[in-house]
Amino acid sequence: MAGEDQAAVHAHAHANHLVGGHWLREKTGAPLVIGARIGDVQRVFAPRFAMDDLATDGRQFDKLLEEGATLPLGNLTIRVLHTPGHTPACVTYLIGDAAFVGDTLLMPDYGSARCDFPGGDAAMLHASIQKILALPP
Ligand SMILES: [Fe+2]
Repeated sequence: MAGEDQAAVHAHAHANHLVGGHWLREKTGAPLVIGARIGDVQRVFAPRFAMDDLATDGRQFDKLLEEGATLPLGNLTIRVLHTPGHTPACVTYLIGDAAFVGDTLLMPDYGSARCDFPGGDAAMLHASIQKILALPP
């Protein structure tokens, strides 16, 4: 069973992540959390996949995270940065001196994430990467 400091955190809506997250919640009881703009992603993809019955307000998740939100992680705190561009709902999780950037910023030889999915935005991705790079070392 999930404790108060347990959660399955999504950096963004990536189909295989979403399926795995719901499976994890079912198996562990850990609440699912994701960026607050997940509804923007759902509204883009629902008509493309003829998912007429999909609620597009993020209700499939237990908590929608805004910029600056915090989550407990043992004696640490997870802080949320909204870093859109790859998708409108991408977030970066700051834990101690580490930044978990999802697909916003990839390995040096790959550079940035793609932003050509529906709802992706190159200018937003660039701004998000600048935000990440402005973090302390
Ligand atoms: Fe992705």
